Amino acid sequence: MRYSAVVASLVAVAAARNRWTGVDTKWATHPDKTADWYTEHGEPLPTLANATTTVEPGKSYIAKLDCLGCPFRVRKLYEVVEIWQEPAQENSLLLNFTLTADSQAILLNDKRIAPLAPMPLFINAFQTPANLSKATLDKMVESHMLDETFTLGTKYGAFELAYAHSVVGMQKRGRYWIQIDVTDVLVRGAHNPKSYNLTQDGQKMAQLLIKEDRVTGALKIEDLQLVERKDRAMPFKMKCGRFAIKTTMFNPREWDRFGKFDTFSRGWNVLVHSSIEFLLGPGLVLIILTAIVGAVTLVKKFIAKRQNNNELEDEDAEAALLGNDYEDAPPEYEDVPELEEEKEEKA
Ligand SMILES: *[C@@H]1O[C@H](CO)[C@@H](O)[C@H](O)[C@H]1NC(C)=O
Ligand SMILES: *[C@@H]1O[C@H](CO)[C@@H](O)[C@H](O)[C@H]1NC(C)=O
Ligand SMILES: *[C@@H]1O[C@H](CO)[C@@H](O)[C@H](O)[C@H]1NC(C)=O
Ligand SMILES: *[C@@H]1O[C@H](CO)[C@@H](O)[C@H](O)[C@H]1NC(C)=O
Repeated sequence: MRYSAVVASLVAVAAARNRWTGVDTKWATHPDKTADWYTEHGEPLPTLANATTTVEPGKSYIAKLDCLGCPFRVRKLYEVVEIWQEPAQENSLLLNFTLTADSQAILLNDKRIAPLAPMPLFINAFQTPANLSKATLDKMVESHMLDETFTLGTKYGAFELAYAHSVVGMQKRGRYWIQIDVTDVLVRGAHNPKSYNLTQDGQKMAQLLIKEDRVTGALKIEDLQLVERKDRAMPFKMKCGRFAIKTTMFNPREWDRFGKFDTFSRGWNVLVHSSIEFLLGPGLVLIILTAIVGAVTLVKKFIAKRQNNNELEDEDAEAALLGNDYEDAPPEYEDVPELEEEKEEKA
């Protein structure tokens, strides 16, 4: 079988890790049974996963955000390369909102969104069929699929997210909203790159109601909602006349490891980085070479000067200086008049 080696990427990866040996991972690698299959076998259709699932009240929630019109990325069983389904079935993004152990921050798919970590904050999300079953979602939760430590290769594609992150103040003390509006999904890199702009009518976004303890600073997730953009919680107008909202837009395409394109700080970082690279690479070699050559030349000059000083009379000082330009022997003095003759001839 030409596929036999390929199985490794999906199933044997699991076998290689103790964590997955003896664990049923078919839900992650094998195709889902279709509605037709259930009908043919006289079995009831499975219960579908809800749009939001509470893993631990106040602390951990999973949102299944329908991604309207999004391309659907699939990896067939025993295939390594992911492809785009044509036409794409309805699909969703999985967002894991979880409080850190010390309750001081909230993570979205392991990235800190409250308080918001400095940009660039690259957030990835798995994509699933929109009709994901509750049983499969339970398996995902059980195996911590939305945790960075999850290593099993699955049939689920993952997207990079472009998003708008907003903190919306409330007049109620100690409470605010965090809104995550996924604006684009992207798959970059060599294999089948694609991106999609989530502009369809009815596209929802996630909003979390956060309660902050004013003394300890401890956070609590009071609610997770998926709402249409037009129904999002709106900010109130503060006394100063401004609205109580702070929005941060992030698009991974506008950033590389040096910073955001077309900004001064990125230019500066690139300059510093390339200087350091130069200094550590060719620059360092150059510096060392220059130092060695310089030292050798100095030593040679010093030796030559000492020899000259010993050998030459004081009145030959000028010649001695000339002699320093020669590495070993002092110049032959007989040549000097000849040179002067030549000059005269040319004149
Ligand atoms: C889920 O959706 C796909 C694509 O529309 C469909 O083929 C499949 O039958 C559905 N599965 C169930 C269990 O409803
Ligand atoms: C899913 O949603 C339905 C309808 O809103 C609700 O009755 C049910 O309890 C929810 N299931 C879970 C596991 O939260
Ligand atoms: C959600 O994120 C938290 C924090 O990173 C992690 O501990 C948990 O396992 C994740 N949940 C899932 C279902 O992966
Ligand atoms: C996505 O669509 C919105 C609204 O049309 C637009 O403002 C935004 O620039 C688009 N994003 C990209 C990356 O094209």
